[in-house]
Amino acid sequence: MSRERFYITTPIYYPSDKLHIGHTYCTVATDAFARYKRLRGCEVMFLTGTDEHGQKIEEKAKAAGLTPQEFVDRIVEGEGGILDLWKLMNISNDRFIRTTDDYHVKSIQYIFRRMYENGDIYKDKYVGKYCTPCESFWTDSQLKDGKCPDCGRDVTDAEEEAYFFRLSKYKDRVRELLLSGDFLEPASRVNEMIHNFIDCEGGLQDLCVSRTSFKWGIPVDFDPGHVVYVWIDALSNYITALGYGNDRYDDYEKFWPAVHIVGKEIVRFHSIIWPAMLMSLGEPLPKKVFGHGWLIIDGGKMSKSKGNVVDPYMLAERYGVDALRFFLMRTFPFGSDGNFTNELLLNTINNDLANDLGNLVSRTTAMAQKYFGGTLPANQAEGAEDAELIALASGLRSRYEDAMEKFAPHRALDEVFRVIQRANKYIDETTPWTLAKDMELNGARLARVLYNLLEVCRIAGVLLTPFMPESCRGIFEQIGAPENVRTWDSVASWGNMDANAAVTKGDALFPRIDVKAELEELENIAEAAKKAALPDIEIEPQSDETVDFDTFCKSDFRAVKVKSCEAVPKSDKLLKFTLDDGTGKDRQILSGIRKWYEPEQLVGKTLVAIVNLPPRKMMGLDSCGMLISAVHQKRGEEELNLIIVDDKIPAGAKLC
Ligand code: MSP
Repeated sequence: MSRERFYITTPIYYPSDKLHIGHTYCTVATDAFARYKRLRGCEVMFLTGTDEHGQKIEEKAKAAGLTPQEFVDRIVEGEGGILDLWKLMNISNDRFIRTTDDYHVKSIQYIFRRMYENGDIYKDKYVGKYCTPCESFWTDSQLKDGKCPDCGRDVTDAEEEAYFFRLSKYKDRVRELLLSGDFLEPASRVNEMIHNFIDCEGGLQDLCVSRTSFKWGIPVDFDPGHVVYVWIDALSNYITALGYGNDRYDDYEKFWPAVHIVGKEIVRFHSIIWPAMLMSLGEPLPKKVFGHGWLIIDGGKMSKSKGNVVDPYMLAERYGVDALRFFLMRTFPFGSDGNFTNELLLNTINNDLANDLGNLVSRTTAMAQKYFGGTLPANQAEGAEDAELIALASGLRSRYEDAMEKFAPHRALDEVFRVIQRANKYIDETTPWTLAKDMELNGARLARVLYNLLEVCRIAGVLLTPFMPESCRGIFEQIGAPENVRTWDSVASWGNMDANAAVTKGDALFPRIDVKAELEELENIAEAAKKAALPDIEIEPQSDETVDFDTFCKSDFRAVKVKSCEAVPKSDKLLKFTLDDGTGKDRQILSGIRKWYEPEQLVGKTLVAIVNLPPRKMMGLDSCGMLISAVHQKRGEEELNLIIVDDKIPAGAKLC
């Protein structure tokens, strides 16, 4: 009998920047589903990849002084790039597609042509707004206050020749699909789609699928001035990666249709446009689209400009890949948004992994070692406390399965942890250390208690494997569970663990975290990252306000020579200058530049001061005028440089 086949995909990510924890969330979830299906014995195809074309990438590459291909290569394949991130996160994808791959390009041209030939793609005019300096077309909704969203300048009405996909033709069939069974989940998203995009004013509109205003895309082969506009290119990856329209792979018949895991903001493309494209091509429709929620921060979107983007590399390196994978799946109900906080992360690791799971494994293995040298005797005695634990653990697989089949990993994990918590309670109820006091009398009972605990560790280990593959391997090694009891079948019923398994006590699987200290450290790391993301040098924009010449002339700037300079006691900012201003009398000026200069290095220098400001007191001392400095920001911090002029300028010379 051939094995059940299962094809699952993540969205393909834009390689316009480093990926963050939100992208990681989506890929880890898909990985957990893929691993779960493999555990069940399915033949799985798990696809992820990158969506590399489009105007944004073209612009970013230009700004970086690279060709678009060089730019995306760096983000995808470069050190610390997307491939590295998925490797680090232990993502088990079977294939990785890049939309710049030759075979994909070829397939897209084929798909576009077929849809053109069957009349579903036609040429028309795209009416929009055009920003001449940016050479960009914008729709009305993209404009910011009626102006170009990129440069803020005025836009003009313009037309561009473009190809359109007859999406409107598929309105009824798509509506029917959305309403049928569980094609789109969570169910709440179905109404959202129908209401916002199908039954809305204007209904489902045809879609612009080509552009002539930028070059970085797949050329329409029968009309080379046009490039295929992103969604046909991007969505088709799910079939081109199987060999549809190319001879690179031959898996289309075998694996299509897929389950698509996508973020909520792209559900529309996957549940409306993508099925309509497949209808046009006469191909089977996807099995399912699951729209998961977003990870948000302080109730809002993560963004580079807010400086609150959470770095998965740093967290995985600090707390372990499995701990991070687990946290993402355990904490946030998969269909809803979840608010990410460091505190939540650290507490979940401590409570669930260090306390509940880690302790169960370490207490169990330590006791098996201590009381029986690592191998339990065959002579074991049941007790009254066993029944409840066994019943709960025996039904775990089916409750877990139910949750996983409904794409509710958080619920599956909740079920596993209920059993783990029950097992910890069972330790308190049976008090093995008391039993151990009289081995002759209680040895057989103690052996059974420990066997039951090992069995819970094993069952939990098997079911946690899709979420924490490496740590579960560690659990199996410590409890001495061989391969044949690490399987899906082996957790269908209780008692499959060998009674005489060789238990070894290993290192703690999940060390406890000092939450307070770590929170501080994470805060420092975030601050440093924020700073690192700031521009190297920033200067204040020039003023739009004009001053009339007479006003300007009233400011009396003079060259002054430093006779002496010293730090002002009790001030970490001020230096006190005694200056020769050419009048024959000393002038005293206080200046807040101590951070940047040692007083002695300024003695003898010729500086510039404005001398007709009213005197003011600073730290109890008179300051008569102000020394002029140049100011700029370096990585977000102000930096001052005194204007030091040529020493041949005499003291008191007027600057004008
Ligand atoms: N390239 C398109 C997808 C094309 S699929 C044929 C795209 N790329 S993306 O890089 O912007 O986003 C990829 C996925 O990451 C989306 O599913 C998106 O929802 C997900 N996430 C991006 N930020 C996220 C969070 N903060 N939280 C959870 N997922 C988020 O869209």
